[in-house]
Amino acid sequence: MPTLRVHHIGYLVKKIESAIRAFQNLGYETVQDTIYDEIRKVNICFLEKDGYCIELVSPVSEDSVVSGLLKKFKNSPYHICYETAHFEEDYQRLTNEGFLSIDTPTPAPALQNRRVVFLTNRAMGMIELLECPSA
Ligand code: NI
Repeated sequence: MPTLRVHHIGYLVKKIESAIRAFQNLGYETVQDTIYDEIRKVNICFLEKDGYCIELVSPVSEDSVVSGLLKKFKNSPYHICYETAHFEEDYQRLTNEGFLSIDTPTPAPALQNRRVVFLTNRAMGMIELLECPSA
């Protein structure tokens, strides 16, 4: 079995500042200031409530990695991120089991430059795999 632990739920939002205020109205607290990810051309902010971690992802330019997704899905959750201490093994295992890599493992500035990779599954949609800090 893969050694996956749910880390956050990724949420597409058009306007990150308004979205932060809307989540705060529900009792979420920001756990990290908004960070610009220049690789993906998105702003990212993490919020937390009741032990749930939400990642707001908002495109900064038309050619960001999520601009197309935002047009299609509007403001909505779009991935669950799974953290693993065995990044390479789980990545390999998932691809062997029918998950398709959308990109290649790349450092995520909003997550201490830990590597992440996005995968998609025909029956499930998109997930994100995140390496543990110690990895
Ligand atoms: Ni994410």
